[in-house]
Amino acid sequence: MSGEMLSDLSRRLQRPLLIRGRRLANRLVLSPMAQLGHVAYRQLLDGFGGCGLMFSEMCSARRVPTETPSRSTYFRWRDAERKRLVIQIVGADPDEMAAAAVRIAAEGLFGVDLNFGCSVAAICKRKCGAALLASPDRAEAIVRAVRQAMDLPLFVKFRTGWKDDPELPVELARRFAAAGADALTFHPRVAPDRRNRPAKWAYIRLVKAAVEIPVFGNGDVFSAADCLRMLETTGCDGVAVGRMAITQPWLFAHWVLKAVPPAQVYAETPLAMARLLNHHFEPASALRRYKKFLSYYAANFRFGHTLYSKTANVPSMAAAIAAVERFFAAPPERLAQPSIVRFA
Ligand SMILES: Cc1cc2nc3c(=O)[nH]c(=O)nc-3n(C[C@H](O)[C@H](O)[C@H](O)COP(=O)(O)O)c2cc1C
Repeated sequence: MSGEMLSDLSRRLQRPLLIRGRRLANRLVLSPMAQLGHVAYRQLLDGFGGCGLMFSEMCSARRVPTETPSRSTYFRWRDAERKRLVIQIVGADPDEMAAAAVRIAAEGLFGVDLNFGCSVAAICKRKCGAALLASPDRAEAIVRAVRQAMDLPLFVKFRTGWKDDPELPVELARRFAAAGADALTFHPRVAPDRRNRPAKWAYIRLVKAAVEIPVFGNGDVFSAADCLRMLETTGCDGVAVGRMAITQPWLFAHWVLKAVPPAQVYAETPLAMARLLNHHFEPASALRRYKKFLSYYAANFRFGHTLYSKTANVPSMAAAIAAVERFFAAPPERLAQPSIVRFA
């Protein structure tokens, strides 16, 4: 992308945005990702800067009221991120979701996000996540109950629904806004589609046009050019980036602040990630999360599959770190654009 286009993108992303009267640092946000958007990754991200708002991994609404942040795997944060962290909750019962939101508000976090998009079978079987898109009345009742229970900014993240038609998400967007949502994140894919077909950005434009509240577009933003194109072609108010934020955690600093990462960032980042995981998690959890991180990070390199295969079955963090160091000992060939075929 040319310097001029990057400046244009950076300007657009830095336009002030208020959500329920609270100003975001900028309009480029981290999309919620289970096993990836944890406290250690968010600390890594903060080291680069530039992220407007961070969304947590989904947390079970049933468990949130009794969680102990210092011991919980998901419901945890660093003090420094409290004011920029939105906790995502997943559940099917309006009262349960409201109780979780009350707990989140008591912790002084930025906001609450409702997961109406996860299509993993175990979640949908419990009528949570994307299953709620097949029960619009219940989904709306959840938004209303959470709204009445607390005063933090309330986000809803949802997708197209169960059939490929923009009518439902447009109607849902209106209903969620009327029920008290302050902002929406919309991922234009049908629920059984697990990211293997391109997201239909045209639907983002329709959802955006249907409501007054801010809409974050989401899905298949893999480069600064994609981000600019999504803003231009859909009119969305901000962009939520998921997988590419794992592959290149410095992208927020680059796209928003025009900070060009130094060449050594590629070798240093996975080692920094390992240190942070070791700090925040017990060894088995750290290792599981490290392997997941590396599976996305490998997309940066022409022979990234070797990084992936050499770490996929290691028994310990120490062995994983040693394999990573070996991979970078002879500088690997970087791809100009990460290989998205490696993405799940
Ligand atoms: C490993 C993984 C875990 C995810 N977990 C969640 C989640 O907990 N909650 C949620 O709303 N979306 C979740 N998502 C969906 C992302 O937030 C995002 O909508 C999707 O990846 C499309 O954005 P992208 O193309 O920028 O990655 C997950 C995606 C991935 C790849």
